[in-house]
Amino acid sequence: MTRQEVIISKNLEQSLAAAIEKCPHDRLFVLTDTTTLELCWPVTQNYECLKGSTMITIGATDENKTLETLASVWTALQKGGATRHSLMVNLGGGMVTDLGGFAASTFKRGIRYINIPTTLLSMVDASVGGKTGINFGGLKNEIGVFNAASSVLLDTRFLRTLDGQNIRSGYAEMLKHGLISTPREWAELLNFDLLDIDYTHLQEMVAKSVAIKEEIVEKDPTEKGLRKALNLGHTVGHAFESLALEENRTILHGYAVAWGLVCELYLSAKRMSFPKDKLWQTLQFVRETYGTFFFDCKEYDRLFDFMTHDKKNEANQINFTLLADIGDIRINQSATREEILDMLDFYRESMGS
Ligand code: GLY
Repeated sequence: MTRQEVIISKNLEQSLAAAIEKCPHDRLFVLTDTTTLELCWPVTQNYECLKGSTMITIGATDENKTLETLASVWTALQKGGATRHSLMVNLGGGMVTDLGGFAASTFKRGIRYINIPTTLLSMVDASVGGKTGINFGGLKNEIGVFNAASSVLLDTRFLRTLDGQNIRSGYAEMLKHGLISTPREWAELLNFDLLDIDYTHLQEMVAKSVAIKEEIVEKDPTEKGLRKALNLGHTVGHAFESLALEENRTILHGYAVAWGLVCELYLSAKRMSFPKDKLWQTLQFVRETYGTFFFDCKEYDRLFDFMTHDKKNEANQINFTLLADIGDIRINQSATREEILDMLDFYRESMGS
């Protein structure tokens, strides 16, 4: 996978013009969803570098991260006369950058694309690192490819368009980055006031968070080893999301990750002696910030089943990323069914589910 350029932009128009210039093209396409068309496109629509571009707009939210939506983007590219030398700009959250990145990566075997993430979640995670894809067969991000954007341009002004829920959703990935880096980053995240946001401080933390992810992706772009660290909280988090999807309950990805972090830190404490005080401090932060995900023991089998579909699994074992301490990462840790059920019991008892 080619290395991508991630820019924390102070002047989006200039940064985008420079990024587009680096990708000579015949036609330019801009992908938005219905939300970013309304809230974010107005910021960019008069940019000289986007003059003459063709707009493609898809439905917002994860329910639209489907094969049908993907096909509609391919069709729009085809109808708009896209060739292998065309360029696509994805302006949106993780759904737009994941699906747009996959559409671009597969259209005529791949056209180049630029990501402009507009949510905290996509700034610190989804748009960086070249994972693209769609949901399929009831499973999250089941189909996709690794293919990095040519450039990722972060303009933290967009953070001010987000409601509290979407800020908290992205913040969970930042918390994950804190847990896999240093006690200092982790403590800074637990102490930040999400009810009265200091945007200047948040921008600094976003830059640090992206740097943590970039360092890992650079060492292991296609997740053969170290990049699995970025899946902390996701084995259980994805199972919660899949259960919620099946039961028509709406939960944001980051909320599922935050709840998944509690479970996987418990497993870390049991299996790797992760310090209990840090488990409880993180748990308390998650409970206060994200509330809880409700499920009962009749749903354990279904959750276990979802975990068996996790992409990290090998040889019929459910593979977790665990921590022996903050920043002390242990990838490829299997757990027995009993350990997983015990973890779910702990979650329900300690989180009031
Ligand atoms: N979201 C995890 C990764 O990019 O590897």
